[in-house]
Amino acid sequence: MEGLLHSVCLIFITLAATISSSSAIQGGVFKELTTSLGQQIMRLAKSAEMRSFMDSNVSPCEDFYGYACGNYAAINAATLEKDTDIGRLMFASYLRRVRQLLKQPRMSTDRPMEVRVKYFYESCLDTAALRANQRTHLLSVLREFGGMPAVEGKSWNDVGFDALETMAQLLRRYGKTTLLGVTVSPDFTNSQIKRLYLGQRDDLMERDGSASLAKKQELKQRLQNLLGLSQELAGKTAEEIIELEAELAHTVLDRRMDRDPRLRNRLTMLSNMSDVYGPVLNLTSFVTSWLGHDYIVPVYEHVPSYLFQVKKLLLGTPNHVLANYMLSTLLTDFEIRPSDGQQEEICAQRMAQLFPDVLDHMVYLSLEQQSPHIANELRNLWLELKTSFREILSSPDLEWLDETTRAELLEKLRLMSFEIAGGQAVDFEERYGALVVSSADYYGNVQRLLEVQASNLRTDLMKESQRLSYYDGVIESPFYATEINLVVLPASYMQHRYFWDDVYPSALKYGTLGLFLSHEMAHGFDDLNRLFDSKGNLNEYWSSQAKMGFESVKSCLSDQFAKMRYDSKMLPRLESQGESIADNVGIRIAQAAHRKWLEQLRTQDMETLPHMSQSPEQLFYLSVAQSMCSDIWLERRSAFLRNSVHPPNESRVLAMLANSAAFAEAFQCSNKTKMNPPTRCLMY
Ligand SMILES: *[C@@H]1O[C@H](CO)[C@@H](O)[C@H](O)[C@H]1NC(C)=O
Ligand SMILES: *[C@@H]1O[C@H](CO)[C@@H](O)[C@H](O)[C@H]1NC(C)=O
Ligand SMILES: *[C@@H]1O[C@H](CO)[C@@H](O)[C@H](O)[C@H]1NC(C)=O
Ligand SMILES: *[C@@H]1O[C@H](CO)[C@@H](O)[C@H](O)[C@H]1NC(C)=O
Ligand SMILES: [Zn+2]
Repeated sequence: MEGLLHSVCLIFITLAATISSSSAIQGGVFKELTTSLGQQIMRLAKSAEMRSFMDSNVSPCEDFYGYACGNYAAINAATLEKDTDIGRLMFASYLRRVRQLLKQPRMSTDRPMEVRVKYFYESCLDTAALRANQRTHLLSVLREFGGMPAVEGKSWNDVGFDALETMAQLLRRYGKTTLLGVTVSPDFTNSQIKRLYLGQRDDLMERDGSASLAKKQELKQRLQNLLGLSQELAGKTAEEIIELEAELAHTVLDRRMDRDPRLRNRLTMLSNMSDVYGPVLNLTSFVTSWLGHDYIVPVYEHVPSYLFQVKKLLLGTPNHVLANYMLSTLLTDFEIRPSDGQQEEICAQRMAQLFPDVLDHMVYLSLEQQSPHIANELRNLWLELKTSFREILSSPDLEWLDETTRAELLEKLRLMSFEIAGGQAVDFEERYGALVVSSADYYGNVQRLLEVQASNLRTDLMKESQRLSYYDGVIESPFYATEINLVVLPASYMQHRYFWDDVYPSALKYGTLGLFLSHEMAHGFDDLNRLFDSKGNLNEYWSSQAKMGFESVKSCLSDQFAKMRYDSKMLPRLESQGESIADNVGIRIAQAAHRKWLEQLRTQDMETLPHMSQSPEQLFYLSVAQSMCSDIWLERRSAFLRNSVHPPNESRVLAMLANSAAFAEAFQCSNKTKMNPPTRCLMY
């Protein structure tokens, strides 16, 4: 019986996946799904999928993650190449859609930006040209900077090498940051002003032995393939580069430590910085070379200890190592491994990385055309969640929150806004108008795109009026943008049927999308972002009483996580509790909104799933947990614990639900069970 059910399940799962990926694009082919039989099939498929992940031998009151996701890893095992979770599945489907859009013939109605990406994509499909031109093109770019010592050998000009100048020129020509982090962001004390932040590179992190070995191998391969270095020389060069990077990463402040920007940044003048770090790290001449003119405006010195380390490394590292290191930042841009069978897939993925804003917009429009009601439904969900959060924040139960602080929090919530990435009408010509694309010159296109991006960075700094784009690469998960008090949902999350659909119980929508949005909403009030007011300015408006109340709940949460284990190791005690706060508050917002929805329904007929006995309230929690089912490759687990700002998903699910009295009530957990503890941590 069990076995039979299972094979039926698998058919439905495959069906559901096919429906999600193709009906979209061919529109209309699956029209029969709108019939009542079609809807029944959809609900059966969802039920089969949910049941397939569950392990009914585990008690929901003892280990809800094990109950909801116990079989997930057996079905979706992590591999050496990648970990598994539902977010990745959705993103893969987003990429299939990108590919479909790029494949469509160019039309006279295409806007100039669409024409550019379609030409670019076309140039990427020409595998013969990709193979023939790669090395020559890359070498000519590297030689603009005197060439890479590992390639040029004895003829490389060691005496003429100027590390600071090379660093500035790489940034000026191609937007490449090497040793120094250079960003243009709103001033954290006044989000209307843009500032230059100079110092720590925030993309660096410390790697353990095996991760750094893997990185070395990867770079060695790249040096051999792209530049034709011998195995021995590639190995030695990769070693030197990775070691230099490790020295840099060594002084990077952990992202999970106290993130108060005042502790990391100091407003100063370039000349003052040059006095401290010069003449080796003369930031005045660096910035002057980069911009092509003087810059006599205050800048943020971003993490002084990092700048001292850069100075030390500039002094103590041989020139050829510095040059190899800096120029190696260009390699991945010109790296593409042509593969005749998978070229469309490779190129679609590359275009999504190169033009995340443009492709999000194209995907958004195609999804909107296919299901015009979705964007509105998401906006309504956002408003419902906001109402629920407002009620929670206004509750007299929050005794530690004095009225003045409370009023500020409510105002911040009122002004918080929501966007779907790609959903805005953007004038792409402003940023890409200067980009010339040829359908027959992939590497030339890459080079010209880098030039345009480099120039955009300088424009961002110099032009006062322009609003900064929040794109900093592909948007794969929802986030909260502090300075603009905005929650952004990825375009890929508009694809329904993964998490929610009109024919599924609404519990699934509130438990997945509802929780994602309210998690981000709650981030606006976590331990870092609570320092910022409704306009995104750092402004400590909290009373000391409210601060004390907040800190005491925060330590309740950090104690709770520090008692948990993952992969038989204790979780590290984190100074920053941003993620646990967002989960803790988010789940209550989503649950309250769902309850409200149920209360106004006339009938709950559609609020359960076939072959499942769970009540709507139970389905809500089940979908919460299942949206977080994941499997991490065993060898990557300790690195995950070391680097991720998020605790592991299973710990998040356990903490979130153990802190929720409504959960214990929904599953009628006795007060002797783990998921219904005697004390709870409750932030808001
Ligand atoms: C910069 O240096 C000048 C002169 O040494 C000093 O008067 C000034 O206060 C410094 N400014 C900052 C922001 O450190
Ligand atoms: C830094 O360079 C500027 C010129 O770009 C020069 O005026 C200044 O004296 C230099 N400072 C140091 C400390 O070398
Ligand atoms: C955990 O769950 C979230 C969904 O909330 C997902 O985006 C993420 O990829 C999952 N996996 C890991 C390893 O954190
Ligand atoms: C646990 O539940 C029992 C019976 O339901 C009740 O008598 C007891 O007071 C509860 N204990 C706590 C600590 O809530
Ligand atoms: Zn978060």
